Amino acid sequence: MQTIHTIPPLRQRIAHWRQQGEQIALVATMGNLHRGHLALIEAARGVADRVVATVFVNPLQFGAGEDLARYPRTLAEDQRLLIAAGCDLLFAPDAAQIYPHGTPQTVVEVPLLANTLCGLNRPGHFRGVATVVLKLFNMVQPDVAVFGEKDFQQLQIIRCLVDDLNLPLKVIGMATVREDDGLAMSSRNGFLNAAERQLAPALYRTLQGVAAAVAAGASDWAALEVTACNTLQQAGFVVDYVALRRVATLQPPTAGEDAEIVLAAARLGTTRLIDNLIFAR
Ligand code: PAJ
Repeated sequence: MQTIHTIPPLRQRIAHWRQQGEQIALVATMGNLHRGHLALIEAARGVADRVVATVFVNPLQFGAGEDLARYPRTLAEDQRLLIAAGCDLLFAPDAAQIYPHGTPQTVVEVPLLANTLCGLNRPGHFRGVATVVLKLFNMVQPDVAVFGEKDFQQLQIIRCLVDDLNLPLKVIGMATVREDDGLAMSSRNGFLNAAERQLAPALYRTLQGVAAAVAAGASDWAALEVTACNTLQQAGFVVDYVALRRVATLQPPTAGEDAEIVLAAARLGTTRLIDNLIFAR
């Protein structure tokens, strides 16, 4: 696996593969790879001839006071894992490569999907995500891009931008990979101390409780949100939100509609965890 840090040799490599008629899949990451990321690489290998991974801790998607500076950077270990997973090329640019003029003038906004849930707690975050993802799509020009359902709001925003802007690629969403105790794998789990790590699986358990209640016939979405919120608070979380929503729009169900997904964001100490569970497929 070749590691490339700048755009011209990246474009050259990709052009070469294209000339051979090869299909290219992209897995975009911020590095510090775990089994969740590697599941995306494996899925990408199944749908394309070449797999390009990117590792870039995107400053545009971090707000003031968020964890940009302490975000784990483990490139050597990431390279090792990507080689073992059968990745063909790693693109690992620095910020000057991606944002040569500093903060870009041209940005991507997907307001209806972005101005809710995590978008309310992290203003500007999804603008930063959508902008860098479009830039990576333009650099790699993949046929397929694989993203995780773990970041479900991000996945729906990317689907929407691909559709709205007629990008010639297919987006594939992959199921969340979890630890044995149910905790969704995340680079941020490493920030949890031992006590917090013990409490953390309560997040997914609470979402499972909501899904079980819905399966048993509950349909007072607001009441379910309040109960789940209380459960998380009692377990030691500071809750940003628990929300029952529609999958396609991420908006609350209107009268007569059923909720299809429960999403939550909650903090343990300084670590913010997110998770979701789709209960209507
Ligand atoms: P990052 O958090 O590194 O995640 C990269 C990809 O891995 C995303 O598609 C994410 O949903 C997926 N992923 C993370 N944890 C997962 C898990 N436990 N199971 C399955 N998939 C998982 O998401 C980002 O980076 C950035 O916002 C990015 C899209 C790269 C833009 O900067």
